[in-house]
Amino acid sequence: MDIKEAIKERHSVRQYSSDHIMGDVRTNLETLIQECNKESGLHIQLITQDPECFDTLLGHYGSFSGVDNYIAIVGSKKMSDLEELGGYYGEKIVLEAQIMGLNTCWVAGTYGKGKCKAHVDAGEKIVCVIAIGYGLNKGNAHKSKDLLKLCSVPEKDMPAWFREGIEAALLAPTAMNQQKFTIGIDGEEAVIKAGFGPFTKLDLGIVRYNFEVASGHKCRAI
Ligand SMILES: Cc1cc2nc3c(=O)[nH]c(=O)nc-3n(C[C@H](O)[C@H](O)[C@H](O)COP(=O)(O)O)c2cc1C
Repeated sequence: MDIKEAIKERHSVRQYSSDHIMGDVRTNLETLIQECNKESGLHIQLITQDPECFDTLLGHYGSFSGVDNYIAIVGSKKMSDLEELGGYYGEKIVLEAQIMGLNTCWVAGTYGKGKCKAHVDAGEKIVCVIAIGYGLNKGNAHKSKDLLKLCSVPEKDMPAWFREGIEAALLAPTAMNQQKFTIGIDGEEAVIKAGFGPFTKLDLGIVRYNFEVASGHKCRAI
C-alpha cells in the first residue's frame, strides 16, 4: 500500500482486537515517532498495553472498545503552533501506521484525560491522543463537504497537483467531521485557512499533511 492508498483506506476505527503491536511493526512505529519528534520538537509518545485510558464513561460514550494502545501528542505550551504541528506529525504517523496494517482514531474528547500515561514534562501539555492497534473493522468513509465549498479555485483552473491535494484533504479526518478549512492556490503552493471552532488548528495540521503528501507541493497555513 502506498501513501495515496493509505489516505483512501484510512477511516476512524473505534473497536480493536487484543493483538499486541510487536516486532518490526513496533520498532518501525517507534523509529518514526522519534524522527517526527526530532524534526518538530514535539514529545509524541507510544503507550501500549494500557486499557485504562479508554476505559472511562467518555470512552464508552465514544463507543471505543479494546483500546489498549494509543499515541499521545504532547508538546511545549510555548510553541505557538503546537496544535497545528501535532496535527501535521500525528497524521504522518497515522498514514504510515495504516501502511503497516494498523488502524487508528484521532481522539481529543472521548478518552480519560486524567488516566493518560504519557510523560508530560514541565511546561508541556497533552494536545490529544490517537487510538492505535489492529481494528475489528476498517471503519467507514465519512460524508464530505463538496470540493467547491472548501476550495476557492474554480475546477477548470485547478492544476493536476492541486486536484490531487484537495482530494486527499477531503479524505482527512477532522474533529466531528467538521471540515472547517478552505484551500486556495498561490503559484506553485497551496494556502490553507482554518475556520473557527474547537480543534480547527489541529484539523488544519492534519489536512495540510494530507494535501502535501498527496500533491508533492507545499501547503502553507495563512
Ligand atoms: C482532532 C480530532 C479529534 C477527534 N476527537 C474524537 C473524539 O473525541 N471521539 C471520537 O469518537 N472521534 C474523534 N475524532 C474522529 C472524528 O470523528 C473522525 O475523524 C471524523 O468523523 C471523520 O471520520 P474518519 O476519520 O472515519 O474519516 C476526532 C478527529 C480529529 C481529527
